[in-house]
Amino acid sequence: MANDESRSTPSLVETSAEIERPDYRDPNGEYIPVVVDGIRSGLLTEFDLYTKVTKDFFLVKPRKSAVTSLLLQRLEGRTPYVYIRAADGERYFASVDQNLEQIVKNPSLGLREKAALLTDYAVGVVEKLFSDPGNPGTLNSAKNFTQNCVQYIASNRQAFLHLVELSSHDHYTYAHSVGVAAYTIALAGEMGSTEPAALADAGLAGFLHDIGKSMVDPGIINKKGPLNEEEWVQMKKHPELGAEILRRHKNLNPIIVLAAEGHHENLTGTGYPRGVVAKSLDPLVQVISLADAFSALTTKRSYSNPRDSKAALMLMKDNLKTKFDPEMFRRFVLLFLDPNKRQAA
Ligand SMILES: [Fe+2]
Ligand SMILES: [Fe+2]
Repeated sequence: MANDESRSTPSLVETSAEIERPDYRDPNGEYIPVVVDGIRSGLLTEFDLYTKVTKDFFLVKPRKSAVTSLLLQRLEGRTPYVYIRAADGERYFASVDQNLEQIVKNPSLGLREKAALLTDYAVGVVEKLFSDPGNPGTLNSAKNFTQNCVQYIASNRQAFLHLVELSSHDHYTYAHSVGVAAYTIALAGEMGSTEPAALADAGLAGFLHDIGKSMVDPGIINKKGPLNEEEWVQMKKHPELGAEILRRHKNLNPIIVLAAEGHHENLTGTGYPRGVVAKSLDPLVQVISLADAFSALTTKRSYSNPRDSKAALMLMKDNLKTKFDPEMFRRFVLLFLDPNKRQAA
């Protein structure tokens, strides 16, 4: 075992989670950032595109006009985001919704571009879910994301690592949900699950695990610094609140409700809300707990900067090992090994 551990850490693929990125959002809400990768995929052809210089927005491509290679070169080299008018947001979202499968299958798009489009879309879905968690249309978009995320992760061994890198940015709760979905799909696959429909359900369970936070006071969710006792009481209600929301949706795999309810339980029985020993829960709930802990350590929060993947895995190995199944954790670490060196590990 010691041998395994010493072999597994040095060749971990580094991700850039420690790099501080600026907030690309428009504080006035007139423009919304969309990943620049959407241009190459053809998704942005029908939109007026703007670029931001300090605080001002400039039209760089009117809708219907062709994208020149010079413009593409300039934008792609300069910024991960271009802007569309907020009034076009729904139309853009619907267009990604319709084209997600083609994007993931498009051989002329790179893995990173696909990850950027998937993540950007998924963050939009979480944002909508948190403002209206009972909306069946948004839940279908969540399923669309997780099904395509399964395809994307299965397409290439490096694909998962692009999602790891991108899921560590942006607003904590939104990026966190996307990250937990991706890590759950990858780890469930590593644990032997191969059926795409089962993996998509696993991903959806990860994506929706914190939906109960939509019912907790945002002042508590976004608080900078530690919560006081009363705030913790409120926060600890989110697993049960989430299960309640999800029970109202028809035709959901019951594991999705169980995951929302049980993702803060652990192997030592010191978790919440019930304090049960997680061995008694479905293994997928344990997969989601592990994905949740890793994402919490690697995603930027209002009060702390994210750790990189290696630091997060080391911390989990040293401090949280009694809370997770050792074999599950070992397999999770394997996902981060350089695919070329994996054979030897
Ligand atoms: Fe949670
Ligand atoms: Fe979480």
